[in-house]
This record gives sequence, structure tokens and C-alpha cells, in this order.
Amino acid sequence: MSFSEKDILHALSFVIEPDLKKDIVDLNLISNLQIDNNKISFDLQINNPALHNKKRILEACQMHLDRILKTSVELEVNITPIPKAPETPTQNRILPNVKNIIAIASGKGGVGKSTITANLAVALAQKGYKVGLVDADIYGPSMPVMFNVEDEKPKPIDIDGRSLIDPIESYGVKLLSIGFFASPDQAVVWRGPMATKALTQLFTEGNWGKLDYLLIDLPPGTGDIHLTLVQTVSVTGAIIVSTPQKVALIDARKAIGMFKMGQINVPVLGMVENMAYFTPAELPNNKYYIFGKEGLKELAEKNNIPLLGEIPLVQSVREAGDSGRPAVLQENTPQAKAFMDFADNVIKEVEKRNEALAPTEKVEITNMNGCSTK
Ligand SMILES: Nc1ncnc2c1ncn2[C@@H]1O[C@H](COP(=O)(O)OP(=O)(O)OP(=O)(O)O)[C@@H](O)[C@H]1O
Ligand SMILES: [Mg+2]
Repeated sequence: MSFSEKDILHALSFVIEPDLKKDIVDLNLISNLQIDNNKISFDLQINNPALHNKKRILEACQMHLDRILKTSVELEVNITPIPKAPETPTQNRILPNVKNIIAIASGKGGVGKSTITANLAVALAQKGYKVGLVDADIYGPSMPVMFNVEDEKPKPIDIDGRSLIDPIESYGVKLLSIGFFASPDQAVVWRGPMATKALTQLFTEGNWGKLDYLLIDLPPGTGDIHLTLVQTVSVTGAIIVSTPQKVALIDARKAIGMFKMGQINVPVLGMVENMAYFTPAELPNNKYYIFGKEGLKELAEKNNIPLLGEIPLVQSVREAGDSGRPAVLQENTPQAKAFMDFADNVIKEVEKRNEALAPTEKVEITNMNGCSTK
């Protein structure tokens, strides 16, 4: 008597994989099925081939085959573990314990990248996330001032025989900035390779530990530092900051273009409009659109990029930056709420991005004219 493959698979479809809770036929775990009269053999992959699991699944196969085929079959099953998904080469090797790396960029200078980054970092920390911040503005680091730690010096720390740099912690955010290591006049005279090496070290030699978010405050423009960044780590996504002003929007478009470039290919998570309107403290309901109205909204819609926040121009945001206590910490103010809402939108977009896309690949330079991903 010989059985058809169809009958056998029908019988085996009653066998449930104990960990995956679905039948072994549906899960495609059977291969190399051979039928020789009432001798049936096949290879079977299961999640955990511990002895008791193997025994249980073998008994189930035997029982359902005998029951459906209405005879006692001679069964030989070669059980092996389901191979683990190989670690993709795109995963973050340099910072394997950092879940999300987010670059904050703008085309134009002075639109508020550093202010936005500092407040976003503190907002995420306030919401309970583990947050790090790299001040990648090699030539004009501003984070030490914004976090009121400009006199601190990060110390070396020995981790598993490697000497790393311990970030400075402020308002729950771990911070490394070139500003801790070089005076502004020193950094300005660095040649390109020295600056990029210094930036790379902040990532590779920082004792970042486990982080949910590592934010990167970029210098303005679309230059060397940006390329160094995407060559050093796998950036999850970028956030573009702009004011609603026409000249800022033109540069914001360039920044979007840079991240979209085939070779760089970092998803733009969204844009944030800074200095969206001015509200005087004594007239909290009045909005004055000093730099224009809704310019960024239009640019965002055109490019199909979400607008993640609108931050008002408020004197105390500037004062908070200068005094080293980010404005998001001010209780019950419209600006603190705007930063908190912005952070919520960032969290949502990062989740969406991680569900929809594979990790961003690190960029490898292949020739002098350009770069390619490997
Ligand atoms: N929403 C705001 N309300 C009031 N002042 C603000 C606001 N955003 C930024 N500022 C102020 O504007 C100035 C520029 O901001 P910031 O340094 O954050 O910009 P940036 O884009 O990082 O600049 P750079 O291109 O030089 O790195 C700072 O003095 C800051 O305090
Ligand atoms: Mg800045």
C-alpha cells in the first residue's frame, strides 16, 4: 500500500509546532518527504529541538498519520532546529545596543537644530526612554552650553579591556560633544580629516551602553560631516528642521535631497517647523507669523513627508538654551507642550519606519566620485 503526498501532508497538518503554535505544514517545516509503501520519512525543523519536544512532536506525527491513513506507518523523521535568521550585514555593528539613531539636520544655519535636538532628547528622557546625544557640530558645538555642562570633562572608562569615553549625563541624557575636548578656536583650525576622525570617535569610543534613541545634532548644510556620519553608523532616519522662511525652505529641500540620494538613502522621518510663529508671553493666544505661515507644511505635503511639530518662537526658549535648562522642562507652557507633542510624533514615526523598512545600510566609499552602500 502506498500513500499520496497529499494524504500525508493532510495528516501532518494536525501536528502543531509547540512554540510557534501553528501546524507544521502551514509553517513549511517539512522537507525531503519520501514514501516507500508504508515507510514514510521526512526532515522536520522545529523551534526548540530539546529531547522532550522532539519526542512530543514525533508522537503527534505518528498518531495523526496512523489516524488519517488508517494504518500503522513506519516513520522516520530527521528533526533539526529552525535556523536563526542570519544577522543582516546592515545591522548596527558599531553600536549594537542602540535601537534608533536619529540625525537632526537643516540646510540653513541658525534655524534651531541644536535647540530642537536638546529639547527632543530631554522630552524622550522625560518619557522614560534611554537617550544619548552626539553633538556632531564639530566647528560650533553648542550642546555643552544647552545642557549646562560646559565645564565637565568626560572621563575614560575601562569596559571589557577597552578604554572608552564616558558620556556626561544631564537631565537624563547621555551627551558627548567635541566641545568637551577642544576649545572652539582649536576645532576651527582642524583640517577635514581631523574633524571627521574626532566625530567618528564620539560614536566608536563612547560608552553609550543600551539606548532607545541616539540623537545627532548635525552642523548646517550638506557637507563632509554628514557623509562621515552615514559611513560610521546606520542612521535610522533624519529629521529636518526649518523655519517657514523662503530661504530656509530652499535649503531644507536640499537637505531632504541629500538624505534621499541613492548613495546615502537615509529615510527622512519628518520635518519640524521652528519659529513657526511668535507668541508674546503676555498675550499667549496671539500668534504672529514673522517668518511666513505654513511654508513648511506645504513643502512637507509636496514631498510626502510628515510634519512632526510646530515650535513657536518664544523668548524663553532662547533663554532656556543659553542658561542650560531646555525649555521642555518649563511646566505648563505652550512651548514645552509643543516639544512634548513633537517627541510623541517622532516616536510614532520611528516605530512606523522600523515596521516598514529594513535597517539603513552604512555607506561605504568605493571611489573618489561617490559612494555606494555595501
Ligand atoms: N523656538 C525658538 N524660540 C526662540 N529662540 C529660538 C528658538 N529656536 C532657536 N532659538 C534661538 O535661535 C538661535 C539659533 O538656534 P540654534 O543654535 O538651536 O540653531 P542651529 O540650527 O543649531 O544653529 P547652527 O546652524 O549654528 O548650528 C539660538 O540663540 C536659539 O536659542
Ligand atoms: Mg547648532
